[in-house]
Amino acid sequence: MDSILVTGNGPLNGQIPIAGAKNACLALMPATLLSDEPLTLTNAPRLSDIKTMTLLLQSLGAEVSSLQDGKVLAMSSHDLTSHTADYDIVRKMRASNLVLGPMLARLGQAVVSLPGGCAIGARPMDLHIEALAALGAEIELRDGYLHAKAPGGLKGAVHEMRFASVGATENMVMAATLAKGTTVLKNAAREPEIVDLVHCLRAMGAQIAGEGTSTIEIQGVDRLHGATHQVVTDRIELGTYMLVPAICGGEVELLGGRLDLIGAFVEKLDAAGIDVAETDKGLKVSRRNGRVSAVDVTTEPFPGFPTDLQAQMMALLCTAEGTSVLEEKIFENRFMHAPELTRMGARIEVHGGTATVRGVERLKGAPVMATDLRASVSLILAGLAAEGETLVSRVYHLDRGYEHVVQKLEAVGAKIERIKG
Ligand code: EPZ
Repeated sequence: MDSILVTGNGPLNGQIPIAGAKNACLALMPATLLSDEPLTLTNAPRLSDIKTMTLLLQSLGAEVSSLQDGKVLAMSSHDLTSHTADYDIVRKMRASNLVLGPMLARLGQAVVSLPGGCAIGARPMDLHIEALAALGAEIELRDGYLHAKAPGGLKGAVHEMRFASVGATENMVMAATLAKGTTVLKNAAREPEIVDLVHCLRAMGAQIAGEGTSTIEIQGVDRLHGATHQVVTDRIELGTYMLVPAICGGEVELLGGRLDLIGAFVEKLDAAGIDVAETDKGLKVSRRNGRVSAVDVTTEPFPGFPTDLQAQMMALLCTAEGTSVLEEKIFENRFMHAPELTRMGARIEVHGGTATVRGVERLKGAPVMATDLRASVSLILAGLAAEGETLVSRVYHLDRGYEHVVQKLEAVGAKIERIKG
């Protein structure tokens, strides 16, 4: 398993290009199952999760070609040969469950393995099941697989979700595009990745309104046609790299960055003493003073503070002036980066879903271990600002969500290298 060696190297300056959004692409790719015409995605990120979704779609009979060094995904689901998403793929990536809604809508049946737990939580699928059952799907859990069928096709319905689940919203919206009649989804998630998915579905001929609000209305149609869609900018990669000048000093321009994708996050950065300015190429970020100020953070569904930026923000706050309290309200176990940061001299106390961070002047490099995708990048951020060397092991977690991370950070002056393991 590869590692990444980072050496604190003072303020960092330059430009970092932001890729297409992993979490948009992982919902856009299953949309190909809804149509027998080609769907092409541009600005796709080059990530291992995208390769996993590619393998899953190919296992169902879809054709997926990766073009232009992986930035273009040309897909066609004209001849589907299976409706079963196997455990060996689903267990590697929970987002595999996003083939459930499209397969039910197109084929009237689907067998999808339960993803099983992952490092950050149990990750159940009850909200997906309730939403699709509202459309008339019969879903049974048997030997670890969800067996779903809709023999007479799906029928539109009014359904209110108990929690604004991102994935359940995506499965429901995709399924409802081909249901008979009108569907109204209440307490829908509002994440930008859902807005991007709806833009793509609309380009395919779907009739949808309300994306980005808590109520989405879908008028079912008989079929969807092909389309070409550009994947939206990755707001989590954006937020992650905005923290580079925040934690190290210097000034970095994030190419393609958009303020509308990260409102709550930017408010917190401002409160911590970080300046964010819009430029004609994206966003320019710098630290107002020599040291950031402590701020409290609570993660919430969009437009609140994103849970996917909590670990990265904790790395910043480890060196803030004062004490910060971080509340993780979305996942039950998303503080695994805390003990690793503590190895670097951070002072963090975790009690259940709350972490209290008492800032120190500077962290010290140490060997640390990545435990999940966002925790791994928070350790890289900490290492960039720490005194001495930090060796982050198990960086396969990083490859799931950050393309070319070494190259992007080297370009702004970081001392960082990947060590083959
Ligand atoms: C999406 O996961 C993202 N993944 C996650 O990003 C992100 O953290 C999460 O949304 C929240 O924003 C993708 O988009 C591929 P949820 P998802 O359904 O859809 C519980 C990353 O780092 N829940 O909104 O799985 C669930 O256990 C990843 O890029 C149920 O209880 O998130 C969690 O506690 C990590 N029952 C909470 O809701 C359900 O049926 C939020 O889950 C579904 C979810």
